[in-house]
Amino acid sequence: MNKKTVFSAILTMALTFGVTTAVMADVPPPPVNQTIGFPDTKFDIATTICSNCHSAATNNIERHHNLITTVVPSASCVRQAGQPATLANGCHVLVSDGGSGFVFEDFRTCVSCHSTSPHHTSTAALAQDCVSCHGSVIDNPLDGHFIPAYALSSVTPLPGGKTVIVPGSNPAVTAIVQGCEACHQADPAATPVPIFSNADTHHGTNLGVNDVAQCNWCHNVSTPDAITIRQCEACHGVKSLHNIQAQTPAAANLTTIVPGAEDRGYGHIGSNTDCQGCHTSIVGSSSPFSAAIVPFVSGQSTHVALIGKVTTLTLTGTAFSNIGGDGVTAFKPTVTITNGTTTPLVLEPFSATESEIKVLVPALVAGSYDVRVTKEGVQSNLIKLTAVPQVLVKSAVLGSRTSLTITGQNFGAAPTTQYNSGLGVFVGTQPAKIVSWSNSKIVATSTSFNAGTKVVVKTLFGQVSGTISGAVKKGR
Ligand code: HEC
Ligand code: HEC
Ligand code: HEC
Ligand code: HEC
Ligand code: HEC
Ligand code: HEC
Ligand code: HEC
Repeated sequence: MNKKTVFSAILTMALTFGVTTAVMADVPPPPVNQTIGFPDTKFDIATTICSNCHSAATNNIERHHNLITTVVPSASCVRQAGQPATLANGCHVLVSDGGSGFVFEDFRTCVSCHSTSPHHTSTAALAQDCVSCHGSVIDNPLDGHFIPAYALSSVTPLPGGKTVIVPGSNPAVTAIVQGCEACHQADPAATPVPIFSNADTHHGTNLGVNDVAQCNWCHNVSTPDAITIRQCEACHGVKSLHNIQAQTPAAANLTTIVPGAEDRGYGHIGSNTDCQGCHTSIVGSSSPFSAAIVPFVSGQSTHVALIGKVTTLTLTGTAFSNIGGDGVTAFKPTVTITNGTTTPLVLEPFSATESEIKVLVPALVAGSYDVRVTKEGVQSNLIKLTAVPQVLVKSAVLGSRTSLTITGQNFGAAPTTQYNSGLGVFVGTQPAKIVSWSNSKIVATSTSFNAGTKVVVKTLFGQVSGTISGAVKKGR
């Protein structure tokens, strides 16, 4: 029998739970499911695939281009080779196109510019505001949350746990109980990413590597053998631990989460069996501080909002609604949006279930916005919404011979003449020569322009196309 099954075995024997759950591979743990929080894996700048989380589909391009005007003077498109990419130094490096012109050096390889772990060197992480990205599945070390000071007892959880022999097992098998490792164990074979040990996931943040003082944010490194749960409670206070629970297939309540009335194995407070994982022998399912269960957002219908337009945003995830620890209070979600400078918008969804929220986002000004699901004092993980200009071609009219006049909106910055920046006017792959370029009107010349063919305009905020129409005859 392997470790994966022994925790359930010990509980089955100790509590005479006869029913086996055949719902998911990871129920009961270990290892735990991966529906809440970031994957329990190790960040390695050399092998981590950034596009698993940031990609063109999540508007990574628009997010970068939105930064151009956030500094004074505006960030430059080009940067000297050898300098690090920053908003002050500029972004793209020019390399020869083999002829007399230039092209951009590869800019799809994230780590050529982001050379260290970008998340745990961020301003928020350095200020120990871990909740900013992770949400209330943890408490912030400096927020003054409750950590008990009374003596540790036989039901106090251990950071790892203790190894015991499963009662009645013959031959004897062991299991880990009374600690995080009763459930949170490594599984190198897990897909899509391997699950690492708790030490590895935390050390994988690189916190403490450049500044030894950061090691002590989590535990006293001078005495690693004496790590107590109270040190872990700097972030894993009772307030967060007793409010982590995913939805389960329990037939009695399929539309919301009810602590104590859920199937075991999906979180911390679903059933008494879950309590036992940390406490070994606490009976009952009423846990101090259980109130609004922490929501987790795993998907969003769009990553962009068009400037000045109302956007319908659909969020998917878990624990958007729940019943409180008192068995009565219904907790409902709101959605909070902020760009960091203006007062956050708190929006009431027009539809909300345990796993889906629909909300109307009012017209926004240009910028990158932080979006979170909030619920009575707790907040979800951070997601982003980028407000971008709507680029439109209204008409593309052929003038004399090879000259085309394109009208529309938000064409943005003009392409430079010195190098091929990927911006401009194209027929197929053929670039046209730009005569003039403003936000609403472009004049270009090309021998490929013909009435009825498609012309593509590539701008900072995406590409749009229109069909070329013939010259408007005078006197008609
Ligand atoms: C597991 C998902 C995940 C992976 C993998 C990931 N990121 Fe992130 N990243 C996030 C989230 C979530 C945030 C916070 C919200 C946001 O800014 O989108 C973030 C924020 C960032 C930020 C902004 C940090 C700040 O100062 O606020 C940068 C830069 C970044 N990521 C770069 C990268 C790069 C480069 C890689 C690959 C080496 C990468 N990310 C891999 C999820 C991920
Ligand atoms: C050519 C250099 C360059 C490349 C390549 C690059 N970035 Fe960036 N990225 C930057 C710079 C510069 C910033 C702004 C950092 C700052 O605020 O100082 C940035 C910021 C970000 C941000 C934060 C945006 C925000 O809203 O604040 C994310 C997320 C990010 N990059 C992810 C990625 C990912 C993922 C890739 C690979 C697909 C990538 N970057 C490739 C230069 C680059
Ligand atoms: C800018 C957003 C951001 C901030 C702020 C942030 N994190 Fe993270 N964290 C991430 C992202 C994204 C991942 C997943 C990718 C990675 O490991 O970098 C992650 C992963 C982790 C993991 C491993 C994943 C897991 O589930 O075990 C730990 C542990 C962690 N962070 C701890 C912290 C601590 C401690 C702080 C505060 C000092 C903090 N983080 C602040 C974005 C952030
Ligand atoms: C009884 C089994 C069990 C025990 C013991 C346990 N957990 Fe969990 N924990 C879970 C399950 C199940 C989830 C939900 C996993 C999911 O669906 O993503 C979870 C989720 C979490 C999360 C949310 C973020 C994430 O990465 O999944 C945190 C944080 C967490 N546990 C911390 C702890 C800490 C700290 C301890 C020890 C004090 C602990 N857990 C002990 C079962 C357990
Ligand atoms: C983000 C939180 C965090 C940070 C920062 C951190 N640790 Fe840890 N450390 C842990 C966790 C979690 C464990 C596992 C505890 C357990 O399971 O009993 C651990 C365990 C250890 C252990 C015991 C052996 C092992 O690997 O299980 C040592 C030694 C250790 N850490 C040293 C360090 C040093 C040195 C630093 C700074 C470079 C550091 N830690 C920074 C969270 C952290
Ligand atoms: C400085 C804050 C901080 C401290 C202190 C801390 N952790 Fe964590 N821990 C985190 C964050 C952040 C996560 C990731 C939550 C997520 O997935 O979004 C996490 C996740 C976890 C999880 C869930 C599994 C996983 O890897 O995601 C366990 C178990 C855990 N921590 C155990 C511990 C133990 C044991 C200690 C004490 C030795 C400890 N932590 C100390 C911040 C901290
Ligand atoms: C993920 C681990 C975890 C789970 C699961 C968990 N608790 Fe706790 N609980 C803690 C921690 C940590 C403390 C604070 C212990 C300390 O520092 O003394 C605590 C404290 C308590 C206390 C206060 C008495 C004490 O020991 O300090 C009670 C009562 C309690 N929990 C009941 C429950 C019940 C009931 C459940 C299930 C519904 C539950 N807990 C599930 C981690 C957990």
